[in-house]
Amino acid sequence: MHPLKVISVKIQILKSQELRNMNKTLIMLRGVPGCGKTTFGKLLGGIQVEADQYFTIDGEYKFDITQLSKAHQYCKSQVEAWMSTNSSQINTDKIVISNTSTNEWELEPYYKLAEKYGYAVFSVVVENRHGNAEETNQHGVPKEILDKMEKNLKNSIKLK
Ligand SMILES: Nc1ncnc2c1ncn2[C@@H]1O[C@H](COP(=O)(O)OP(=O)(O)OP(=O)(O)O)[C@@H](O)[C@H]1O
Ligand SMILES: [Mg+2]
Repeated sequence: MHPLKVISVKIQILKSQELRNMNKTLIMLRGVPGCGKTTFGKLLGGIQVEADQYFTIDGEYKFDITQLSKAHQYCKSQVEAWMSTNSSQINTDKIVISNTSTNEWELEPYYKLAEKYGYAVFSVVVENRHGNAEETNQHGVPKEILDKMEKNLKNSIKLK
């Protein structure tokens, strides 16, 4: 084969690999409690993972703040399990994470996983224009904490 043709074939292979990677997407929904992450995540389809799932046993939701760090560990392990699965029956191309993620450090482990397993990442901040977060959040997070989370989120938004 002519050397130029070999180069062209190589470029095409690279492009198709890039495209394949873009087909695997991780969508990080960020926002203060009650802003609508879980609701919006459902609209996006794909596999939705969130720390809150740790607190749902047999369909019953029981939040326990003392178990929060375990819930986040569980969430990370679930995401890695989905990313690494080779199942031909379950489509793992789109994973949606709907934790609050109001701090940069909360995003980092997921960016690392995305890099490890070839997922493109979209970070999306969900606004709350439908109600008072103090009323819409199901965890009863008090105003002072909501204010702090809002501030952390505002300080960690990357727009350029
Ligand atoms: N765009 C919207 N318009 C009107 N109501 C909404 C909208 N998004 C969410 N809601 C309502 O607001 C409440 C909170 O939504 P949701 O549980 O999705 O928020 P969340 O960000 O996942 O909260 P949390 O961080 O506590 O898990 C729900 O009652 C939901 O139906
Ligand atoms: Mg939620």
